[in-house]
Amino acid sequence: MTILVTGGCGYIGSHTCVQLIKQGFDTIILDNLYNSKEIVLERIYQITGKRPQFYQGDIRDKHLLNNIFKENKVTNVIHFAGLKAVEESIKQPLKYYDVNIYGSINLLEAMKAANVKKFIFSSSATVYGTQPNIPYIETMETEEPTQPYGRSKLFIEKILQDLAKAEKDWSITLLRYFNPVGAHPSGLIGEDPQGIPNNLMPYITQVAIGKLKSLAVFGHDYNTIDGTCIRDFIHVMDLADGHLAALNYNSSHSGVNIFNLGSGQGSSILEVISTFEQVFKKKLAYHFAPRRAGDLPAYWANADKAKKLLNWQTHLNLYDMVHDSWNWQSKNPNGFNE
Ligand code: NAD
Ligand code: WQD
Repeated sequence: MTILVTGGCGYIGSHTCVQLIKQGFDTIILDNLYNSKEIVLERIYQITGKRPQFYQGDIRDKHLLNNIFKENKVTNVIHFAGLKAVEESIKQPLKYYDVNIYGSINLLEAMKAANVKKFIFSSSATVYGTQPNIPYIETMETEEPTQPYGRSKLFIEKILQDLAKAEKDWSITLLRYFNPVGAHPSGLIGEDPQGIPNNLMPYITQVAIGKLKSLAVFGHDYNTIDGTCIRDFIHVMDLADGHLAALNYNSSHSGVNIFNLGSGQGSSILEVISTFEQVFKKKLAYHFAPRRAGDLPAYWANADKAKKLLNWQTHLNLYDMVHDSWNWQSKNPNGFNE
């Protein structure tokens, strides 16, 4: 099988490419390097002994997409490419809808023209909105997220559902990720946010490496075990393996199938910090700060459906996640910038 991986140079895409290559899949990456670096290809080579075929370009480029499908016998597409910064999406909604929604439609049109109809989409737990009934399970109704990034994910899910309703020969899997963290155990690839990180784990590791002064813990007056928010953190290697399991399932199931990819367990922010301190063997500088607008107090996945139907579950725990995040950060203080 030949898998086209859009956004394959990015954080989750690169780890998934490593696992795809290890399983013997031919892997083609399409990425415009908007939020990633070409050196990722070299690192994938160092880990796997194979360099994925690479097209540098944009998912909104019709001509390029048609060429990729003409030049290769693509059998499946895993679609990671997109923009993912929630705050930025509030300030620049058109950019987010253009890349995420128009880009996805463009990709689907090129697939249709090439008669490639197996598609795996990177969705997000954000499509559950702000519902208080946790854990989130796939049978729950989605709720419109409050920001353009989340809305773009929900709209794409709806577009894919309409497509599968209209054309019965599509096999579409929607993977709703919870909070991906961690890195490949080699420390050769990992998350490399540009500028000051928005997400918790890269913020922690950048405080530890001395690039940032202190972690602001947003809110410690939530109604949770220690007052801080609770999230379902999932190791990016487990997440990558979830894509392989989904690829297998998607090959023999048409229509739209939806899976949560999470550990099924919540951890509080203070638990993450104390686990990090065990790994780091030093105290982490942090302080309490006001709640961040839009944050939910607590949510995690019900991950039973993926376990039952995909035969997939997470194997790596919070210690592994912080260990591998720190391993990546300490070996690459400047990320992929050498
Ligand atoms: P990332 O930014 O590291 O990777 C996305 C990749 O897509 C980057 O390499 C970027 O250069 C590329 N890209 C962006 N716009 C493009 C375009 N127009 N054409 C071609 N390539 C383009 O992000 P990630 O964390 O690896 O996330 C991958 C996917 O998973 C995204 O769709 C994201 O919304 C989704 N997701 C991420 C998380 C998370 O917390 N990381 C959670 C849920 C869902
Ligand atoms: C986690 C927790 C913060 C930073 C986001 C997106 C979501 C999905 C995953 C794509 C929260 C706290 C954070 C900091 C902190 N992405 N925190 N200090 O918000 O759960 O989810 O990424 O689909 O859509 O919204 O992740 O890592 O930003 O925050 O205290 O400096 O850590 O309050 O409770 P979030 P996060």
